[in-house]
Amino acid sequence: MSVFRDDFLWGGACAANQFEGAWDVDGKGASVPDMCTNGSHTVPKWVTTTIHPDRLYPSHEAIDFYHHYEEDIALFAEMGFKTFRTSINWTRIFPNGWETEPNEKGLEFYDRVFDCCKKHGIEPLVTISHYELPYALVEKYNGWASRELIGFYMNYCKTIFERYKDKVKYWLTFNEINAGMMAFGQVLSTGTVQGYEGPAMGAPDDPQTRLQALHHQFVASAQAIIYAHAHYPQFKMGCMLAYGQSYAMTCDPDDQLANQQSMNEHNWYCGDVHVRGEYPYFAKRLWKELGVEIRMEPEDAETLKKGVVDFYTFSYYMTSCVTTHKDVEGIGGNLLGGVKNPYLKASDWGWQIDPKGLRYALNEIYGRYQIPLMVVENGLGAYDEKGEDGVVHDSYRIDYLRSHIEQMAEAVKDGVDLMGYTPWGCIDLVSASTGEMAKRYGFIYVNKFDDGTGDLSREKKDSFYWYKKVIATNGEDL
Ligand code: BG6
Repeated sequence: MSVFRDDFLWGGACAANQFEGAWDVDGKGASVPDMCTNGSHTVPKWVTTTIHPDRLYPSHEAIDFYHHYEEDIALFAEMGFKTFRTSINWTRIFPNGWETEPNEKGLEFYDRVFDCCKKHGIEPLVTISHYELPYALVEKYNGWASRELIGFYMNYCKTIFERYKDKVKYWLTFNEINAGMMAFGQVLSTGTVQGYEGPAMGAPDDPQTRLQALHHQFVASAQAIIYAHAHYPQFKMGCMLAYGQSYAMTCDPDDQLANQQSMNEHNWYCGDVHVRGEYPYFAKRLWKELGVEIRMEPEDAETLKKGVVDFYTFSYYMTSCVTTHKDVEGIGGNLLGGVKNPYLKASDWGWQIDPKGLRYALNEIYGRYQIPLMVVENGLGAYDEKGEDGVVHDSYRIDYLRSHIEQMAEAVKDGVDLMGYTPWGCIDLVSASTGEMAKRYGFIYVNKFDDGTGDLSREKKDSFYWYKKVIATNGEDL
């Protein structure tokens, strides 16, 4: 018998800006990713203040889900998806972010998407803001540095809650909110890069602005949750973090402490606000050491306390090590960076693959919070080649996913309450960190390439049939 719940939410995950394309169609405004050029493993993607006609902006067409959604959702249904995680692009609904009236055409698009999901018996899981801040809010307000964004976000939330109340039950307020705890989060997450043109992951760090912006996001999330709980009792409201499990490199107490502090800063700081409704005990010292002072309004503490989440979700791709010792090899990673673990292999992008780390992470998170968890991103970004038969035989991806699902099953046996699993980029899409197509995660191959060419046709990879079997057996036949 399967260890996973009978109603386990198997599915896949995408984000509007990485797969919809149609970036300026039907009244849509530019979001931050629309101002980002393509890059690669070795060449950084750039954020620009205007669109340069001689450069390629991969979100502009992406894989054109906007015009292929019916075909794509039918393929998800063929795999047996119970849920599909996607985001609403804020700029389809409010092109500049500050309008009072929504863009009807944008709302209609998501009506079509959610209706299509429902037709196939797929439950949408919606990220309200997946790195899709309207760029106009960066230009005018320096993004989330300004408290006024809370009001704009609430207007957006109220609009989509009311419009989709009968179609969407599961909501995530911010994708990887803890990106704001890391320097690179300034472009994609807090949007506090007014006037900045340069490498998207390399904006000059400003912890004061970044953490203030994060505070505004926390209050916005809490207000949205309070509002949703009051008006739509059927809604389940979740948070989403880039959970970065790290290990101390050695048993040197200095390494252990350094790792504990890194875990506090990168994971528990945001998780505690979302789940416990208050900043953790270590926050004051952290602010002092970073030279940060957070401006809070008197009512914020109560808002955070009341606006706690119903479930906790996270992305999990890799782990890293922390050490105080010198002469160690660094690693790349989505958010983590850190030091190389000699016991683990890595993807072609240097992300260290650690299935057992997922069991460890699930136990750590559940042990702290004891609310339902969901893994809403996981997967292997890889260079896929077609075989002589024209098919992508991605056994490496199957191995990656199988080993992670095995460890999820162990965590469930440990007693963790796990609601579901949505592997990232269930259909090939644009990479968030590098802006390339060559880094593919999908069960479905899309004929779209880094130079912008490709007929956008879709093809099933071997992993498509494998995942279908996994879902059909509720995770028993791996
Ligand atoms: C997560 C993001 O950090 O990682 C996604 O939520 C992103 O948007 C995913 O695509 C994988 O990262 P990348 O850089 O390989 O696309």
